[in-house]
Amino acid sequence: MRDEELVPGVELLTSMRSVGYDFGAAVADLIDNSITAGATEVAVVGDPIEASYVTVLDNGAGMDEQSIRQALRLAGSVGDGTRAEDDLGRFGLGLKTASLSQGRQLTVASLHDGALKALQWDIDHVRETGRWTVRVLGEADIAELPSIDALESMDQGTLVVWRQLDVMLAGEVDLSKAMVAHLTALRHHLALTFHRFLEGEGGRPLAITVNGVAVQPVDPFLTRNRATQSSPTELIRIEGLPVEIKAFTLPHVSKLTATERRRPDLGAGMREAQGFYIYRNKRLISHGTWAGLARRAELSKQSRVRVDFPNALDHLWRLDIKKSRAEAPAVLKRRLADVMTSITGSSERVHTFRARKDPQLDPMQRLWSRQNGRDGYWYEVNLSHPSVRALAEDLDEAQRGLLNDLLEDLAGGFPVEDLYASVAKSEHPKPIHLDPDAVDERLTALRAAAVLPDEPKAAVMALKNIEPFDSVEDLEDRIAKIWSGS
Ligand SMILES: Nc1ncnc2c1ncn2[C@@H]1O[C@H](COP(=O)(O)OP(=O)(O)OP(=O)(O)O)[C@@H](O)[C@H]1O
Ligand SMILES: [Mg+2]
Repeated sequence: MRDEELVPGVELLTSMRSVGYDFGAAVADLIDNSITAGATEVAVVGDPIEASYVTVLDNGAGMDEQSIRQALRLAGSVGDGTRAEDDLGRFGLGLKTASLSQGRQLTVASLHDGALKALQWDIDHVRETGRWTVRVLGEADIAELPSIDALESMDQGTLVVWRQLDVMLAGEVDLSKAMVAHLTALRHHLALTFHRFLEGEGGRPLAITVNGVAVQPVDPFLTRNRATQSSPTELIRIEGLPVEIKAFTLPHVSKLTATERRRPDLGAGMREAQGFYIYRNKRLISHGTWAGLARRAELSKQSRVRVDFPNALDHLWRLDIKKSRAEAPAVLKRRLADVMTSITGSSERVHTFRARKDPQLDPMQRLWSRQNGRDGYWYEVNLSHPSVRALAEDLDEAQRGLLNDLLEDLAGGFPVEDLYASVAKSEHPKPIHLDPDAVDERLTALRAAAVLPDEPKAAVMALKNIEPFDSVEDLEDRIAKIWSGS
């Protein structure tokens, strides 16, 4: 037996491009590196005219030439697996995969101890040479890099340049417009992902600008709004390391300031924004889900739970390369389930304070629900009805907002007076009959939207209590047929 070295083919560099970063997550990965390097200022610039480059400049510790080389090597920074407590990195891949997921060329220029050095990965160059070759830039090449003047005017720092932005701008006709749209979305993404750094939490101030405009933090918990309710911080130890949980119940919309009300995650997008907010070293990793512990419901839409975990517990969280997904370990999930029950209760209180539900317990999932408040009663379309969910599931946030608005307007405009007058005259509304073909079509659509159980019996159970399916007599047979795909 003998050992043989099997070096990966250069196409690996191209394959890595498909890890699935979007532009925001890719830039956030670079900013992770800047923060770890001790930066207090990060400037993102996107070429708004020709869309030919994106640059990310920081005033962190910078790197000498050998360190840049290590930084550009795949998994060059992994070491023995232990990381400083405040390190936002993990895989030794972020800089390369994030950058090349957007464009074909990545240049890293860094100023350290008075020396300015730059190295470059260029996918086309690597493929042409058939070898893992980086370019070492000479002074003249360095001088031509976008944003280089800004780096030269600093004492230390790092400039990352992305060019040939093929993936980032794929399919776009008006490149300049596309760049501007990407930068706008980026501002929102960074404002939330790094809000705790932008707020200066823990005495580590950070300023981020995007094309010269400062990014303002977006605090998902509205901790500054006095009407926000919060639980005491709960400390759980996993493998001896602290995980902190704090639950927040956001104020009812009437207690929001005008600025807060304009935020999409507090207006039409409120419902989608409920759930756990998982932070790794204070950097937001994922949000907007209850991690399978509950479904997003109308009544818990005011609840958001902050979960803080340290990087030493990475191995338990199944963190992905993009750092945009982390799955809670089973030990923690059990605890989170308890926390959930107590908070969704309190979110319900915020809601029912304004609108008490019909006191008669009603197991039916009706299309309409009657709400009683201090100033009277009103009717609402039940947003957790499967038909509404099936439609909403495939929509993006803006469209979902429009749908919610439409349903609210429909409900608000319901001709109650007219109905009242008719009932008073003993006029009866025309009974609604579902014709059998229509039932099948609707069941097929609900099945396709995956909002009902996979198991036919469970689906029957669920639909028996849901209008208008409760009145379908042969529901069981129809479901059996459609669920089996025949
Ligand atoms: N802006 C920067 N300033 C200083 N050093 C940097 C900078 N960007 C990258 N580095 C160095 O390059 C290394 C590689 O970065 P890269 O993002 O590829 O991996 P990582 O941060 O170690 O892990 P991850 O894949 O989880 O991001 C870093 O560990 C760091 O030493
Ligand atoms: Mg990194």
